[in-house]
Order: sequence, then C-alpha cells, then structure tokens
Amino acid sequence: MNVKRIRKDFPFLKRKIIYFDNAATTQKPRVVINAIKDFYENHYANIHRGLHRLSQEASRLYEEAHEKVAKFINAKFEEIIFTKNTTESINLVAYSLDLKKGDEVIVSQMEHHSNIVPWMMRGVKIKYIPVKDGVLEIEKIEDMITRKTKVISCTHVSNFLGTINNVKEIGKIAKEHNILFLIDGAQSAPHMKINVKKLNCDFFAFSSHKMCGPTGVGVLYGRKEILEKIKPFLGGGDMISDVSFKGFKVNKLPWKFEAGTPNIVGAHAFGIAIDYLKKIGMNNIFEHEKKLTNYALKKMEKIKNIEIYGPRKRAGIISFNLKGLNPHDIAMLLDARAKIAIRSGYHCVQPLHNKMGLKGSARVSFYIYNTKKEIDIFIKSLNEIANAL
Ligand SMILES: Cc1ncc(COP(=O)(O)O)c(C=O)c1O
Repeated sequence: MNVKRIRKDFPFLKRKIIYFDNAATTQKPRVVINAIKDFYENHYANIHRGLHRLSQEASRLYEEAHEKVAKFINAKFEEIIFTKNTTESINLVAYSLDLKKGDEVIVSQMEHHSNIVPWMMRGVKIKYIPVKDGVLEIEKIEDMITRKTKVISCTHVSNFLGTINNVKEIGKIAKEHNILFLIDGAQSAPHMKINVKKLNCDFFAFSSHKMCGPTGVGVLYGRKEILEKIKPFLGGGDMISDVSFKGFKVNKLPWKFEAGTPNIVGAHAFGIAIDYLKKIGMNNIFEHEKKLTNYALKKMEKIKNIEIYGPRKRAGIISFNLKGLNPHDIAMLLDARAKIAIRSGYHCVQPLHNKMGLKGSARVSFYIYNTKKEIDIFIKSLNEIANAL
C-alpha cells in the first residue's frame, strides 16, 4: 500500500493537519469530490420519475451505486437499501419489525447510542451482553435468551474500545435460536473486507461518510426473505407500486424501503468511494491500520499518567485518558500545539463510560492516509502535555 501516493489524493492534507478523528468521519479523496461536481454539472435529475435522458442517466448512476455496494459486501442488489446513515438503518429495522411490548432485544454494553436508543424508543425490554476487560462475554448470551427474544443487535467493532467482536459466533447463536441478528458495521465496513453471507447476519448497517464517501448516505443490508416479509419504514413516493384513495401496494425491493427523493448524488459519490477503497484493497487497509495501531499503542503505553482502554488486539481506535486532565483539554491542547485532530467526550458510548467510572475519554482513530511520522508527532505532543502535568 503506497501511503505517499494515497496522501496525494486528499486535498485536505494541504492544510498540514494530522487527522486522527477517522472513527467520527473520514476525509474525502479528490475522485469523490469531483464525482459530486460532475453529477450536478452533467447528469442531475430526479430518479425513477422521468422518461427524459437526464432522469434515465441519474437513475442508472444511482442504481449502479446499489450494485457496487452489494458486490462490496457480497449481497444481492435487492438487499441493499440506502438510508441517511447507520443510525437510520438501525431505526429502519427497529420500526419495521413487528415488535410488541414485552418482546426482548439483546444488545451489548459497548453499543453506540444509535444501537440502544431506537430499541428504547420501541418500548422493548433490552438486555446487555456484558463487557469484561474490553471484550464481550459472548458465552453469557445463551442464558440471556428467552422465548421473547426477537433480535440480537451488536456492533462489529467498538468505536470506543476498538474491540473487534466475534460477530460470526454471535450470529451462529442467534441462528440456532431463530432470532434475527443485526450487525452495526459502522466501524468495520470502512476498514476490513466484509462478506455478509459469512457473518451469519440478517441485517448489516454502515455509513458512507466513515469510508471516504459523502455524508447523508447510509446502507442497510437485509436478507431478501426478511425484507420481503417486514413492513416498510417510511411511506411516500417510490416505495409504492400502486396507490388508490383506499390504500397502496408496496414496490419491489429495495425501493420498498426508499421513500421519497434519496441522496442521489451522494449515493453515486459513495459508489466512487467504494471503487477507490477497492483499488487500494480492504485487506491492505486493515493491515496498514493494524501496523499504525500497534506502533501507536507501544509508544502510548510509555507515556506518564496514561490510561488506555480496550484490548491489545484491536482495530485502529485507541481511547485513553491522562490522569488529572479532562479529555477535552487533551484534544484542545493537541489541536493548538500541533494541529492534531482527535475526538474527546463519550463518543456516543456514554453507558459504558459510566460503567467504567469515566466522564469521557480522548480517542485517536486511523485511516488510509495516516502515517507513523504523524504518530511520532502525536506522541511527542502527548508526552509534553503529560510531563507538564
Ligand atoms: C459503532 C457505531 N455505530 C453507529 C454509528 C452512527 O453512525 P452515523 O452517525 O453515521 O449514523 C457510529 C458513529 O460513530 C459508530 O461508531
């Protein structure tokens, strides 16, 4: 993987910022930025609504993006629904399933709020797979399952601890008990090769903006047989095949779940982002981030008064604190001293922070354009901050 060449593709690097906030959102390569401009200048029209050539072109490009996403995770075209983001994808599932009061949903203690709050809003009973030493206690799931358990919904990679969960194993348990299984892939799809057919899942959710694509586009993969059975999430244009004053018939998949004008241009640009990532190679991306993470961890462990959270073996996410300093101060000092962008706070994982007795943490997270040299600058600044305490 030629990082030097990759860095040339990212215009933001001209600002000489060290961007370590990739778990929040990633920067965009020039090909994606250009694709947005080109679409608006040359192909823009609404989709599935016009017979004129511009509408035909826009529809083709929009559908091509579905096709690219489907291939990217080894799904069928009909199984790919475009949403606004991972959050909306999870909400879509929560609201489309026929859940009743008293039904139970199992999530984990390391979930992002977007995989807790929608279930709370649905009024179901939520059970939490415990986290011990930064790892899920998967062996406890069997005992948590009852006749009322309808869904297990779990993150693939923790956006706080960096833990890579054995979702395949969780999926196997769900399958054995005939329970639906949703994977929150917001932090995995951008960084590793995903094959939904091998993960034993019924749903898989992720966001374009965390993988070089634009904001406003999310993906929900759903197994065809299930998508055919469940009811649509939102009603309106394009999700219907027939409407009368009395009722409506739903459209075929995936349009059944895409009501109203979607993010046409964003979806196309997301397809271009996927082309870009595929060219680099998802396995190369994973290996590159593994090297950076191990390099950073080794150096961070030596810093005075540091507390690092999560297991040693992890994805490219490291959350930490310096004893005696607020994580927001760490973030502000790193930005002021060396133009290093990191995240601070709860990272939308407040319940687990609270369980660990933390009022937040600082977090660095890596992507394809990051280098060991950038980590060296970060370590130098962090050492200076720690030593000044
Ligand atoms: C694990 C995880 N799930 C879900 C989300 C929500 O993603 P989005 O804000 O794109 O909906 C995030 C975002 O940080 C995340 O890290």
